[in-house]
Amino acid sequence: MKKDREQWTSRLGFILAATGSAVGLGNIWRFSYVAGVNGGALFLILYTAFILLVGYPLMVTEISVGKITSRNPVGAFKALSEGTPWWLVGALGVFAGFIILSFYSIVAGWSLAYVIKAVRGFGSDMDFAGTFVGHISSVWPPIIWHGIFMLITIGLIAMGVVNGIQRASKILMPVLFGLLLILIIRSITLPGAGEGIAFYLKPDLSELSFNTILAAIGQAFFSLSLGMGAMITYGSYLKDKEDVNGSAAWIAGLDSAVAILAGFAIFPAVFALNMDPAAGPGLAFITIPAVFAQMPLGYFFGILFFILLSVAAVTSAISLLEVVVAWVVDEKGWSRKKAALMLGGVIFLLGIPATLGYSLLSGVSFFGLDILDTYDLIASEITLPLGGLLMALFVGIKWKARSVREFANSAPGMIKIGKWYDVLITYLIPVMVGFVLIFGLISKFRG
Ligand code: PFF
Repeated sequence: MKKDREQWTSRLGFILAATGSAVGLGNIWRFSYVAGVNGGALFLILYTAFILLVGYPLMVTEISVGKITSRNPVGAFKALSEGTPWWLVGALGVFAGFIILSFYSIVAGWSLAYVIKAVRGFGSDMDFAGTFVGHISSVWPPIIWHGIFMLITIGLIAMGVVNGIQRASKILMPVLFGLLLILIIRSITLPGAGEGIAFYLKPDLSELSFNTILAAIGQAFFSLSLGMGAMITYGSYLKDKEDVNGSAAWIAGLDSAVAILAGFAIFPAVFALNMDPAAGPGLAFITIPAVFAQMPLGYFFGILFFILLSVAAVTSAISLLEVVVAWVVDEKGWSRKKAALMLGGVIFLLGIPATLGYSLLSGVSFFGLDILDTYDLIASEITLPLGGLLMALFVGIKWKARSVREFANSAPGMIKIGKWYDVLITYLIPVMVGFVLIFGLISKFRG
């Protein structure tokens, strides 16, 4: 089945690309603010549990679906179940790709703009909240940065030079990791940091609600790039001999490590600097510059940090665009260039209302959410978990867990998955995710 398709040249190439997809704005920007809104420590526990119980098994599943079929998500489900409607699961993933990239690129644009702001020194008044609000509520700058970010993403996908960027990030991402460690040291040694550490590590069970559980599941899916076929797409470029289980463990492990560290960098500082952990999407953009400002060489570290965050965002964005591009290239026979340009253009346009929601359209809200948050809710807390749920059902009903397990175990590699996989994917994941989705959404829309 491995037709004339490009393939990762090595196991490392695949792990780098897939980790590049997983590690992004989700680990720093989204993780910290969603954890902050949802009670900190309790959220951390739920999130970690979902990574292990839902994330890892689904990661193995998605990579296997891609590897065995060598297709995009829609084509993969078609190939595995001819003549049935299961391909709709892939279509749902392509839909999620459009929505997520349209707002992801806005936030990535904030990050790019922050590189310039960091170079300029963030203004002397140290009003980091004011800087953030000033930026997002202006009309043109966020649109222009969104456009620049989309052009970079489109260019990389159209030219197929993704491998180069992956190799570069092999060096850059450890630097980001190192910078996070430096931030953590500064953050936890600020006077008053203890309260933030407690917030992040001491769960307050009274915060437990379906809303929080749904937020944790959504964040697990978003952060691991699961539920929409990104890992199917990346797995489709994998050679037969490459291992699945070990790669999945590396990807999930590195991704979770970055997210958990980001929490240690942010929450102690939030409390030390008397800020509100539940401040919402601006949390990281307000806190991180404030911590750098309190640090020797902070000026340079700050610039470097936002450059690296932008690079991390690019390696995630290309996986989002790749899902929709692979779909039209495989299924409709478009050229890569045309697909990247046209679909990237649509995504750019789709993103504009999300940024205008902070300026010209600031009066518009859905269930109390602004436009960007609404996109995020539809994608991260509805479509991704639903996609994951359906993939698990597909395995349980159609493909059979044992077949996936035997396929995943057939490649060489140290990690062999056991029968626990069958139980999780066939029963636990569909029931648990279904339950959380239904009750989470009820509690959300009841207010
Ligand atoms: N995992 C990315 C992040 O955490 O920033 C975002 C993402 C990429 C989500 C690809 C979904 C996806 F398919």
